Amino acid sequence: MAKMEVKTSLLDDMIGVGDMVLLEPLNEDSFINNLKKRFDHNEVYTYIGSVVISINPYRSLPIYTPEKVEEYRNRNFYELSPHIFALSDEAYRSLRDQDKDQCILITGESGAGKTEASKLVMSYVAAVCGKGAEVNQVKEQLLQSNPVLEAFGNAKTVRNDNSSRFGKYMDIEFDFKGDPLGGVISNYLLEKSRVVKQPRGERNFHIFYQILSGASEEFLCKLKLERDFSRYNYLGLDSAKVNGVDDAANFRTVRNAMQIVGFMDHETQSVFEVVAAVLKLGNIEFKPESRVNGLDESKIKDKNELKEICELTGIDQSVLERAFSFRTVEAKQEKVSTTLNVAQAYYARDALAKNLYSRLFSWLVTRINESIKAQTKVRKKVMGVLDIYGFEIFEDNSFEQFIINYCNEKLQQIFIELTLKEEQEEYIREGIEWTHIDYFNNAIICDLIENNQTGILAMLDEECLRPGTVTDDTFLEKLNQVCATHQHFESRMSKCSRFLNDTSLPHSCFRIQHYAGKVMYQVEGFVDKNNDLLYRDLSQAMWKASHSLIKALFPEGNPAKINLKRPPTAGSQFKASVATLMKNLQTKNPNYIRCIKPNDKKAAHIFNDALVCHQIRYLGLLENVRVRRAGYAFRQAYEPCLERYKMLCKQTWPHWRGPARAGVEVLFNELEIPEEEFSFGRSKIFIRNPRTLFKLEDLRKQRLEDLATLIEKIYRGWKCRTRFLLMKKSQIVIASWYRRYAQQNKYQKIKSSAIIVQSYIRGWKARKLLRELKHRKRCNEAATIIAAYWHGTQARRELKRLKEEARRKHAVAVIWAYWLGLKVRREYRKFFRANAGRKIYEFTLQRLMQKYFLEMKNKMPSLSPIDRNWPARPYLFLDSTHKELKRIFHLWRCKKYRDQFTDQQKLIYEEKLEASELFKDKKALYPASVGQPFQGAYLEISKNPKYKKLKDAVDEKIIIAEVVNKINRANGKATSRIFLLTKNNVLLADQKSGNIKSEVPLGDVTKVSMSSQNDGFFAVHLKEGSEAAGKGDFLLSSDHLIEMATKLYRTTLSQTKQKLNIEISDEFLVQFRQDKVCVKFIQGSQKNGNIPTCKRKNNRLLEVAVP
Ligand SMILES: Nc1ncnc2c1ncn2[C@@H]1O[C@H](COP(=O)(O)OP(=O)(O)O)[C@@H](O)[C@H]1O
Ligand SMILES: [Mg+2]
Repeated sequence: MAKMEVKTSLLDDMIGVGDMVLLEPLNEDSFINNLKKRFDHNEVYTYIGSVVISINPYRSLPIYTPEKVEEYRNRNFYELSPHIFALSDEAYRSLRDQDKDQCILITGESGAGKTEASKLVMSYVAAVCGKGAEVNQVKEQLLQSNPVLEAFGNAKTVRNDNSSRFGKYMDIEFDFKGDPLGGVISNYLLEKSRVVKQPRGERNFHIFYQILSGASEEFLCKLKLERDFSRYNYLGLDSAKVNGVDDAANFRTVRNAMQIVGFMDHETQSVFEVVAAVLKLGNIEFKPESRVNGLDESKIKDKNELKEICELTGIDQSVLERAFSFRTVEAKQEKVSTTLNVAQAYYARDALAKNLYSRLFSWLVTRINESIKAQTKVRKKVMGVLDIYGFEIFEDNSFEQFIINYCNEKLQQIFIELTLKEEQEEYIREGIEWTHIDYFNNAIICDLIENNQTGILAMLDEECLRPGTVTDDTFLEKLNQVCATHQHFESRMSKCSRFLNDTSLPHSCFRIQHYAGKVMYQVEGFVDKNNDLLYRDLSQAMWKASHSLIKALFPEGNPAKINLKRPPTAGSQFKASVATLMKNLQTKNPNYIRCIKPNDKKAAHIFNDALVCHQIRYLGLLENVRVRRAGYAFRQAYEPCLERYKMLCKQTWPHWRGPARAGVEVLFNELEIPEEEFSFGRSKIFIRNPRTLFKLEDLRKQRLEDLATLIEKIYRGWKCRTRFLLMKKSQIVIASWYRRYAQQNKYQKIKSSAIIVQSYIRGWKARKLLRELKHRKRCNEAATIIAAYWHGTQARRELKRLKEEARRKHAVAVIWAYWLGLKVRREYRKFFRANAGRKIYEFTLQRLMQKYFLEMKNKMPSLSPIDRNWPARPYLFLDSTHKELKRIFHLWRCKKYRDQFTDQQKLIYEEKLEASELFKDKKALYPASVGQPFQGAYLEISKNPKYKKLKDAVDEKIIIAEVVNKINRANGKATSRIFLLTKNNVLLADQKSGNIKSEVPLGDVTKVSMSSQNDGFFAVHLKEGSEAAGKGDFLLSSDHLIEMATKLYRTTLSQTKQKLNIEISDEFLVQFRQDKVCVKFIQGSQKNGNIPTCKRKNNRLLEVAVP
């Protein structure tokens, strides 16, 4: 049947009942049967309300996978089948969301699965709480503390291959978001007697075997150990190997875990050195040696082992040797040293080994705490997990069992208290009347043990402190006196005669009726173990060790801190720490896991009814159930209740609109459930009897089936109908498509046939028409041809006739002309004379000339002297006249033009003319100068104040004032100079300052040289011996060379009446001081664009490159 709701419930598919509260009828048999049934179906967890009962399956079940974690995550407690994860989730969420500190109390016998349960809880919480690198590291450290502590604190016992030999309480601390911050571990009473002696079939602590199996040869050698277990007295031989346990692999796990937890390498090393030292201590043996006073004194048999221990621990060998042979007792400043006999020496050796190991263990816990300590001071939420040794009943029970059982007694106590309290609180919270419940309260047993005056622990302490001879027997005697009347105390020797004849009770024993059963304790060893004495000589020897860890483990060995007060006894220490623990637990919200062991064989699938029955009894589980259902067996919040049963009533199905409580009321009324069977709490419905609940469940099941049928019916109907409709719709679609397709086909066929028929008809018609048209055309053509021929014939006939007619007419005209001519000549022959021809000729000529001149008058060109137009000549015989006329006209218009000139213009043209005469066709620069007007004073010296001095110095009229480049004679570089030409002088002045550099009278200028090319270089040659010639000739360059040279020439001519020699040549000599240098102009390769450059090649040659 398909599940109707997404929300599941514990009640779904239950095997037996998942919550014992619902067990009906409730008795021991049904309880055990229910557990057994569930156990057989691999359901190892069962609830009693919120308590989880866990039965050890002794095999791994697939119920701890990450998928399971996800399944239980954020689900309500009763939603899924019972599981330890459900409890963990509830606790974690309550911690995170409601800010309630939690503790998880795991109880049960040794081997019942407590330690595993605690690990499961921790791993679940680790899996569901926050993630992130930092958080993960905290988690990892918290989880990895387990393997370390288990290696040092667990051992194989007859009941459990991995039995915890210490009590452990771990507080995991969380921040406000529920992310783990760190933790604190408390350890309780390590069973240290195991270090020196193990019961038959049991082992020493795992770490010893792990080192010997797993350490490398090298490491063993360092620790001075050998791999052979049988070499060590402290290792029980009979079960050195445990099935399914790989000590070597575990050793690696432990080392790795130590590293993760944060142990430094040297710390790990020290720890293993201490373990090695403990192991080797067991091999020290003693032999008696008689002394003078008749007493035996012990001596170490083989000192080799002692030597190695001393090397390992850095203790002076003689100090340790002495500590094993003597004992110093200090009393009131007096020191008395006594020798030890062999038995005492062995006792001392074992005491040392036990102390060394148990202190090492406590140090480990402290060291782990340092690592996992929360790093912040913010308020933390705490989840405590208590995994403490379970109730123990052995053949021989000693002080340790007594202490362990006392602890369990206390735990039972708070279990009872807290469960009852919680139940009562719920009733009050829900406003339901509380009914009193009877249950066994073990407070009386706790009192028997811990009462400050008459308690067994108090008695023991009293005995230990009492002066005089104290033995275990005197302690028993005392017990017999004080506790004889206690209901739960039994002893052969007590005054109470009840047990006088009880042979099962030896004389050296006492028996306590614990809540979990009767346990007989061997009194032997109680005093010693409670005293937990270590001779001071030994602790002092240890303190002297150079091994820093060992030294730290024995602070009381420091002579400076000698303390004569007795240290607190083991019993009182334990009592105090249990009291603190209880106080701590009471402040937290408790969650219980009750572990049950199904058999004594550590075997899977075996369920020993008697054994389980015993545990159920002493754990008071039945009572627990009774308490839970004293008033009402079952309770559930209104919402889930309504959700689960709403289908049972028409008004609430399928939806109830209104408060859930009202819905449940309606539901219960409708179902006619008797009034006394239920009660309405504030948020929950309380059902008195499980029967009622099962009735509801049955009804629900029935109703679900009905509903399922109904749903199935409707669903099937719906499915068939939709399918039918779909098919119908599809059929129509298909039919329509098919029809369309068929019609399309048919239409296409008709269409194509029609087209064919049509095309045939059209073809036939067209051909017919064509034939007709062709016929008509041919007829037309024939007619045209015939007409043409006819017209042709007619035309030719006409033409012939017309030609004939014309010829006749012409002949008539010619004949007529001739006839007329003849007539005229005959008539006028008498008027013509011989000179008539000449007159006609002259007249004609005259007439032509007249016409020519009249036409010329109209065609005259403009008066511009440069206008080259001249009309064409009309007659060949007038050719020379025409040319002459042109010349005369030109001369006339030139004259006309010249007549307009002023004197100044005349001067300019004279100058230009002069230039043309001097340079035309001689210098390439000339043509460019023709269009440029000669301005002369380019620099306006008189207007520029800069040249005032210069102007003052020159009083003559300035003909030329212009900036020129003076070529340096040494290197050919140019410098700017002002070139001035006056009537009598040539001057060169500095361009910037206007200072006159040189002044040459025109009479001293002999020659001006320049190239024929397109450059402005020119040399001014001076008369030899003249004043100015001292520095040599000037080599200058100017853009206005043509103008300058012309003006120089004209001025010289007018002043000196001599023609200035102007030499135009591409190679000329220039006088530079003493040397004559050849200035040579070369045309061609020019890098600097269009500017000529000048370069001094050598002493004799200055090269000017002209573009
Ligand atoms: N939930 C479980 N699933 C499988 N095996 C378990 C489970 N709980 C306990 N065991 C087995 O039982 C052994 C003893 O469990 P343990 O927790 O050490 O007992 P306790 O701490 O109560 O003495 C474990 O070593 C393991 O083999
Ligand atoms: Mg354990």
